[in-house]
Amino acid sequence: MINALSYIVVQTPHMQAWVDQVTNHIGMQVEVLEAGKTMRIRADQKIQRFVVTATSGEPTMGMGFEVPDASTMQACMKALDAAGYTTTPGTAEEIEFRGVQDMVHFVDNDGLRLEIAYGLKDASTEFKPGRPIGGFRTGKMGLGHVALITEHFEALSNLYRNVLGMNLTDYTYKPFKVEFLHCNPRHHTIGIAHTGQPAKIYHLMLEYNDFDDVGRAYDMALPNPDSIGVTLGRHINDHATSFYLKNPDGWMFELGWATRTVGPDWEAEELKGMSLWGHDRTWLPDHKREEARQILRDLAAEGLRAPVVLPENQTQLKQNTKD
Ligand SMILES: [Fe+2]
Repeated sequence: MINALSYIVVQTPHMQAWVDQVTNHIGMQVEVLEAGKTMRIRADQKIQRFVVTATSGEPTMGMGFEVPDASTMQACMKALDAAGYTTTPGTAEEIEFRGVQDMVHFVDNDGLRLEIAYGLKDASTEFKPGRPIGGFRTGKMGLGHVALITEHFEALSNLYRNVLGMNLTDYTYKPFKVEFLHCNPRHHTIGIAHTGQPAKIYHLMLEYNDFDDVGRAYDMALPNPDSIGVTLGRHINDHATSFYLKNPDGWMFELGWATRTVGPDWEAEELKGMSLWGHDRTWLPDHKREEARQILRDLAAEGLRAPVVLPENQTQLKQNTKD
């Protein structure tokens, strides 16, 4: 029923730090609606991909999922109701802020706000990146993917797969349970993990069209090593080359490139690890970090590699063809 991750909804006590990071470091575009209070953040031609409100309380992040039309939204509401989730219609103000035609919201088993919306408008102006980048890979693949640490793995797996209609891409149940789920050609739109830690947002992945834009973002993070939550590396499943940048609210942006896509004939796979190389999780306790390094050494000894599938919209290629 869900087409894509459409946008995220942020409440933050660190408004100015968000403006600085998303504009200057990541290269998105901020549109301030009320100075210090509300802003939309753009990543493409859409009117927004993040709606951000200042708060004096704890930071929060919620997700907006896109459905094609009003009747699919109704079907989602019915399925959610049958599964025991109460949906609430968005207010006129919330709908206006998001630039959608209609929206309903509900709360998942971990207390996270989820929205179902359709008709996200295009902006009236061209996307103007905060630094010179070749744009983000969005379109029918949606904004990117979100990975969640959950305290209710079975309930969330049921919610995304059986209620909202996402499909399993791959999974592992050792050393803890993880499932990656898709709802369009993007390899995964949602990842859920049960690690035994309290529920939290782990990261939002944004995908650059151009590899050099990942490298430049990494260069900008290097003088401040504490800002790098996971070092440069390549994922074993979606094949993203990426690193993870901590954001002002304590969760992370994965900034990546060249994820592979999945089609209707995809068969779910069990994963041998999380990464082909790199992706050292700087925040892990030493013994866990060493375990992760051993997995990388084993995969390297096996000679496991993956082809790079270039995204069709990468601007470097267009430039090369012109030369
Ligand atoms: Fe990711």
